[in-house]
Amino acid sequence: MDKREYIVSLIKEEEEPLKTMRSVASDTETYAPIVPSETAQLLKTMLKIIKPKRILEIGTAIGYSAILMAKNTDEDCEIITVERYEKVADIAINNIFEAGFEKKIRVVKGEAADIINWLDTGFDLVFMDGAKGQYIEFLPRVLNLLKSGGVLITDDVLYNDPNIEENATERHRKYTIVQRLRKYLEVINNHPQLETTVLEVGEGVAISYKK
Ligand SMILES: C[S@@+](CC[C@H](N)C(=O)[O-])C[C@H]1O[C@@H](n2cnc3c(N)ncnc32)[C@H](O)[C@@H]1O
Repeated sequence: MDKREYIVSLIKEEEEPLKTMRSVASDTETYAPIVPSETAQLLKTMLKIIKPKRILEIGTAIGYSAILMAKNTDEDCEIITVERYEKVADIAINNIFEAGFEKKIRVVKGEAADIINWLDTGFDLVFMDGAKGQYIEFLPRVLNLLKSGGVLITDDVLYNDPNIEENATERHRKYTIVQRLRKYLEVINNHPQLETTVLEVGEGVAISYKK
């Protein structure tokens, strides 16, 4: 058993509907990109520490992490989650409704780059988990949206997936994302408003505290 398998083996069984959502998401026929178990567990622990009242998520997918956040926050916490693909957002809306969190979670359909510009400021937590190549562009506005004392959690920051089987265009696209993520990590680690740590959890998670 390697270290990752060992860590995952320590995580207790997920509650419903998260358990079923994870199994649906991992099925090749119904695949959906959701956070790995160890990142989900990190998120849960961070939610208990931060006790956020307003959360912004960029990248809803089928609503797994939004539901996880709703289950691990107080009744009066508001979660806004952004998804650009209408069909995917509709699946999330349905999953959220079935989980009974339709009052707590608002799914906003559209491009995060546009939506973040019209959201009200004052978030306690931003979970950035979509559009890896654009994190660096989102950062200035995301920092405006975050309260002082708020936390930015960025997922997939150590993403690196060079697949030699792919064609040159796809390899170049991935190389560009990796370069942009490195730039992003450099910026958030040296930003005067942030105190950041990078963890080798899942595909890499950065936790940044806004001073
Ligand atoms: C890794 S998945 C999110 C997983 C989800 N947070 C979870 O763990 O359940 C990333 C999602 O972000 C969406 N996305 C990517 N770029 C986006 C953008 N520019 N604006 C809004 N959504 C975007 C994708 O369509 C995808 O569904």
